[in-house]
Amino acid sequence: MTMDQELQATIAALVHEGKGILAADESLPTIAKRFQAIGLESNEENRRSFRSLMLTAPGLGEYLSGVILFEETLGQKSRDGTPLPIVAARQGIVPGIKVDKGTTALANAPGDLVTQGLDGLAERLRGYKAQGARFAKWREVYPITERNPTSLGVAVNAQVLARYAAICQEQGLVPIVEPEVLLDGDHTMERCSQVTETVLRAVFQALLEHKVTLEWMLLKPSMVLPGKDCSHKAGSEEIARETVKVLRRSVPAAVPSVNFLSGGQTPQQATANLNAMNVLFPRAPWELSFSYARALQQPVLDTWRGKNENVEAAQKALCLRGKLNAAARKGQYRADMEPTH
Ligand code: 13P
Repeated sequence: MTMDQELQATIAALVHEGKGILAADESLPTIAKRFQAIGLESNEENRRSFRSLMLTAPGLGEYLSGVILFEETLGQKSRDGTPLPIVAARQGIVPGIKVDKGTTALANAPGDLVTQGLDGLAERLRGYKAQGARFAKWREVYPITERNPTSLGVAVNAQVLARYAAICQEQGLVPIVEPEVLLDGDHTMERCSQVTETVLRAVFQALLEHKVTLEWMLLKPSMVLPGKDCSHKAGSEEIARETVKVLRRSVPAAVPSVNFLSGGQTPQQATANLNAMNVLFPRAPWELSFSYARALQQPVLDTWRGKNENVEAAQKALCLRGKLNAAARKGQYRADMEPTH
């Protein structure tokens, strides 16, 4: 296969009717935080057990087309000795890899951040590909305050995302481009809308400059939401309308799929909001799908709590969230499909 055929085949496998992506790519500090909440130590074996539990969940491939792994997981094995990327692939779930190295303060733009990890990226990607990864993910974050994101922050983050995406395509890996406008703060939904539009326009301008092929990438944005501490609480329909309005203004139709992050929404909110988009906009130019971490994994962690005897129930909790989001992807989710307990 040529590089182009490889990219096309990966896109065809990832963009699949009624399926989405699981982000299971928490960095070491983030997974430690998630484990701490259930009283579990974050060591290599516990991380392996947790991720292996998810990837071996029977039937998970009915709802997921891809999984984003953390570097460590790419080299780990399930209990029967099968490498975890192969476990995923056997379920029909394409393995991918988070390749950024986290954020740092952006000089001369107080409050803004920029993501690190471009140096040596091409070489790292060759290694990940040899381990089975077919796509990659890189996240830039944009905090909202009165002065953030600054225009410098917006420009620099866009350039970094575009450089990453270009390097991925050069190496035959599909890039997931993730600009996350953060939920923290008391900003209004209108402000989030303005910031998200500015950010996305800058990102696509930079992708164009860096000659990234839009047909061979996925966008992973945040939804347009009022800040966590804003007194106005928006409903699903309002969120869906505002989010798709912003996307229509800024995301070219050549992009095959928009796979949202959950960003601190509850599992039910993330599902209901995705569903509303698919109900209201069945003919949007791109697929409207999911690439959730917390909104898929929270019930799994709460059920598992690090105990072997809970593995099966935790796997069922994951498949249920997968099923509900797969329904939302088709606009067929209803709140009464949620478990009652
Ligand atoms: P959340 O769905 O928890 O926001 O995570 C998505 C993700 O991949 C963060 O980079």
